[in-house]
Amino acid sequence: MAGAIARDQLFTPEIALSTEAAWQRVKRVIPPFEWPLFAPDIDAIQRLKRERNAVVLAHNYQTPEIFHGVADIVGDSLALAREATRVDADVIVLCGVHFMAETAKILNPDKTVLLPDAGAGCSLADSITAADIRLMRQRYPGVPVVTYVNTSAEVKAESDVCCTSGNALKVVESLGTDRVIFLPDEYLASWVASQTDIQVIKWQGHCEVHERFTGAEVRRYREQTAGLVVIAHPECPPDVLAEADFVGSTAQMADYAKAKKPPRVLLLTECSMSDNVAAELPEVEFVRPCNLCPHMKQITLPKIRRSLEAMSGEVLVDPAVAARARRAVERMLEIGR
Ligand code: 13P
Ligand code: SF4
Repeated sequence: MAGAIARDQLFTPEIALSTEAAWQRVKRVIPPFEWPLFAPDIDAIQRLKRERNAVVLAHNYQTPEIFHGVADIVGDSLALAREATRVDADVIVLCGVHFMAETAKILNPDKTVLLPDAGAGCSLADSITAADIRLMRQRYPGVPVVTYVNTSAEVKAESDVCCTSGNALKVVESLGTDRVIFLPDEYLASWVASQTDIQVIKWQGHCEVHERFTGAEVRRYREQTAGLVVIAHPECPPDVLAEADFVGSTAQMADYAKAKKPPRVLLLTECSMSDNVAAELPEVEFVRPCNLCPHMKQITLPKIRRSLEAMSGEVLVDPAVAARARRAVERMLEIGR
C-alpha cells in the first residue's frame, strides 16, 4: 500500500528501549522527531552485527546516528588502520571511504571487509596513480616515497611508507634522509615542510572539502565571535593553517577540544565532526561552517543494514598488491603517532 511504513521500519516500544542508550548519546545533535526514522535501522544493525560476528569501524566524519549509534570503533584514519589489526571478528563494516576499507582489507586479508556504498571515494585518492609514483621515483632517484593513506592500494604498493595526518611529521623524520617525496596532499606536505628541515617534494593533490576554507573566512569568524578557538585539519590551505590556534588530525582536533573545552570552537574540517564532538561537549559552543564530504555522506544507516543483510559491498584487493601495500602500512603503524 502506497505510503505504508514497512513493519521492519516501525518505531515500536521495544525498539525505543533497545536504542535508548544511543539516543542519550545523540540527543543534543539529532532532533527528537528524526530519531524514530533512525532507530529501527540501528536496532536491526545491532542484531545483524551479532549474527554475522561483525564490527563497525566509523571515521570521525560519519553522521552522528552512525558514529554514536552503531559504531564499535571510531577514530581518525590512523586509529581505524591500527584498530583494524586488532579486530576479533569475521566481518568488518567500514563506515568511511574506499581507501579506508582497502586499508582494513590489506591488514586483514582473511576477513570480509564491507563498504556499504562502493561509490564512497576521495578526491585525494583520485589525484594520483601508481604510474605517477614510478615517474616520481625516476625523477628523484633514491628519494624515499611517503604516501598519505588517502590513496589506492596500488599507490600504497609503490610507496616506502604510509602516513596519516596524525603522524606525517614523525614518519617523514623517521627516514633519516634530507629529502622525501610526499604524496599526494600538497597542503599536508606544506604543513610538514613548515616544521622540519627535511626538503619535502610535493604533489598537487587536494581534499575537495578542506581546500574550500580560506584564511579570510577564518578572520571573519574571529571578528564576529569573541574568544573563538580555531582548530584546523592540515588538509586545509596554508593561509587557513596560519590562522589556526591548533592543527591536527581529526582525532587530535577532538582531543584538543575535549582537553581545553574552550567556550567557542571553530573546527575547520568536515561538518559531521562538529556534531560528533558537540554530542559529548555540551558546555562548548561549536561554530559550524559546513563543508560536507560527499563521499563520506554516501554511507547511511539503510545502506549499512542492507550491506550486512546481503553481505554486499565486499572490498577486495589483489593479494600481490596487498602484500606490497601492507609493508608500507605496517611500517607506518610501527612508527606510531
Ligand atoms: P584523519 O581522520 O586521519 O585526520 O583524516 C581526515 C580525512 O580527510 C579522512 O578522509
Ligand atoms: Fe577525501 Fe577529503 Fe572526503 Fe577525506 S574529506 S574522504 S580527504 S575528499
